[in-house]
This record gives sequence, structure tokens and C-alpha cells, in this order.
Amino acid sequence: MASITIRNIAKKFGELTIIPGLDLEIADEEFVVFVGPSGCGKSTLLRIIAGLEPSTSGELFIGETKVNDVPASKRDIAMVFQDYALYPHMTVYDNMAFALELRGMSKAEIDQRVRRAAGLLHIEPFLERKPKALSGGQRQRVAMGRAIVRDPKVFLFDEPLSNLDAKLRGQVRTEIKALSQELKTTMIFVTHDQVEAMTMADRIVVLKGGEIQQFGRPEDVYETPANQFVAGFIGSPAMNFFDIRRSGDGFVFEGAPHLAAPVPDGLKAALGGRSKAVLGIRPEHLVPADDVAGALLVTIDLVEPLGSDTLTHFDLAGVRTVARVNPELRPKVGDGLAFAAQVGKAHLFDSADGKAIR
Ligand SMILES: Nc1ncnc2c1ncn2[C@@H]1O[C@H](COP(=O)(O)OP(=O)(O)OP(=O)(O)O)[C@@H](O)[C@H]1O
Ligand SMILES: [Mg+2]
Repeated sequence: MASITIRNIAKKFGELTIIPGLDLEIADEEFVVFVGPSGCGKSTLLRIIAGLEPSTSGELFIGETKVNDVPASKRDIAMVFQDYALYPHMTVYDNMAFALELRGMSKAEIDQRVRRAAGLLHIEPFLERKPKALSGGQRQRVAMGRAIVRDPKVFLFDEPLSNLDAKLRGQVRTEIKALSQELKTTMIFVTHDQVEAMTMADRIVVLKGGEIQQFGRPEDVYETPANQFVAGFIGSPAMNFFDIRRSGDGFVFEGAPHLAAPVPDGLKAALGGRSKAVLGIRPEHLVPADDVAGALLVTIDLVEPLGSDTLTHFDLAGVRTVARVNPELRPKVGDGLAFAAQVGKAHLFDSADGKAIR
């Protein structure tokens, strides 16, 4: 049983507080992804879990065992880093076998483990090659193989795919996901990449300044972000935000007071006595309007065709705004377009603290 329980873990480097005090409960066999801006403490937290960095205070449990004073080598955790260093003079096979030989494991057992990992990772054809004769993605898989053969209770990955090109990244991402389902091991994966976070995670931890902003299933984090930070961080391109204020019975855009803001009916009560709020609309929820009456009229000033869809950029109520449209619309710079917000999909946030209004 390898659940991970973090109770009020704090980390300071000298006077500098990196993690003020964090609680997190990761279930056995769960695949959890840490995301957050650079410097928010993802690697630090991972290193604390691995035992490579002491926490300043708090408690860490793996399964039922408190491991604060258990050295890294005894925690039964395997960590794969971004800059995986393979032994250049050893074959792929020996790179994977080395740690097991050090443990004094029998040749037969080592061979069985290496071949099983190689099978899982589709690197059997390269077992006798040296790392320099492998592509970046193949090397990355060997680095993972080295972790897998140890048969750890927990895998920690710190941005392991960031050295790979886009296509390989996609492939290895799928492989890791499949692997996690096969190995049934608890995994924590750190990434900057939206798509990786959304597609791989059972649950995502969104971190900022060493604090958890939200911990939830990818679809929940996407559909019901806890605050404006999470709303802006998860989803690419980012959610569009507009300051709005009360006017008569409804709300208008701060930057265009003649324009009614599309506030979901279901949220009107939750707004309470607020005179202003922040309206959030994702690029995919601004859709070309059938009817110009009541629509948001804009002039396209930048077009980014992505193939499957096209991003159009424009100014709306004084805010740089992005809408994702069907490429068949063939929008061009200078085109005037009428958009309607899918009101039911809009989000509201408190203007002062950014918390979601629900
Ligand atoms: N040994 C150290 N001494 C002092 N400060 C440190 C040390 N290690 C990390 N930090 C600081 O702690 C903060 C968190 O660093 P960390 O490496 O955990 O961030 P991260 O979320 O992994 O960022 P990135 O996405 O860039 O990898 C940063 O501000 C960093 O400068
Ligand atoms: Mg890091």
C-alpha cells in the first residue's frame, strides 16, 4: 500500500519560505500531476517526498509509515529527472541492470526484470546498444526502465519529457499513461505542459507560491476552477477575463459600459450584493453569433490556424481576447465578426480575492 500523506509540510531555504504549509493526500495507485508556474515549488515538494531534501516541518507518510527520518535509499521510491544521466559506457541492458547488481540480485531475476521493463517500454531492440546510439526519446525510455526495474512503491517524475520533440513527447506521454495502468504504482508527475497534465492525471494539483490552489480531477479543475489563477493557468489558450460592473438589473463590461455582460442566470443569486466581478470566458465558449442583435461585435487583428481549429484574436471591451473557431470560417485579419458567449459556460470570480463565485 503506497498512499502518500503530506501533513502541514513546510520548506524554507534560509529566511525564504518556499512552501508555507501544505496538506495533500494521494491515494494508492493514483496518478497525480503537479502543475504550476516556474519557481512555485514543484521540484522542491517532489524532492521532499523522495527524501532528497528535508522539510523544515510537517509529516510525510508513505502508506502507514512515517518517513521523515527514513533516508531516500530506504523509501522505495524511484525518481526520473528531466536531465536523466545514463551511463555512457554501458549498454542499455547494463544501464538498467546496474542498480540491481549492486543490490546483489541474482542474474536470473535481473534478466527477468530488465526484459519485462524493456517489453513495457518497447526498447528490446536496443538492449545491446550504448546510449549514444539512441534517440532522445529512446534514452528517456531507458531512464524510465532503470526506474521500473527497481519495482518501487512510488514513481516520481520531474518534467521527464521536456527534452523531447513534440511528436515524441506525445508518444512517451501515452506510454507512461499506459505504463501506470499496467504497473499499478502510485505516480507523481511534474510538468509545465497543459496537455500532459489534463491527459495523464487521475487528479491534478495546481500549485502557486508553494500553496495548493486546487486538487481535483482534470475535468473538474477545467470546468469548475476554484479561483481566477487556476482558471487562467489550466486551459490553452488561457481563459479571457473581463472586469464587469452592476448596471441596473444586470451587469455591463467595465471597458464598454454600453455592452451587457453575459452573466449566467444561475450565478446571479451567488453574486449577492457585489457591485463588480470578473467574468471569465474560455476561447472555445465565444462562438460566432447567428444573430447580430445583442452580439459582441469585434474586428479580428490576428489569426492563428492550428489545423483542427483556428484562434482569432481581437479587442473586446478593451481586453485582448481569443476565440477558438471552426477553421472553415476562414477568418482573416480585418474581418468584422459577431460573437456570442455561451452564457452557461461563463465563470465569475470575486474582484478582490479571485475566488470563484458559484
Ligand atoms: N537550494 C535552494 N536554495 C535556495 N532556494 C532554492 C533552492 N532550491 C530551490 N530554491 C527556490 O525555491 C523555489 C522553488 O523552486 P522549485 O525548483 O521547487 O520550483 P519549480 O516549481 O520546480 O520550478 P520549475 O518549474 O522552474 O522547475 C524557487 O524560487 C527556487 O529559486
Ligand atoms: Mg522544477
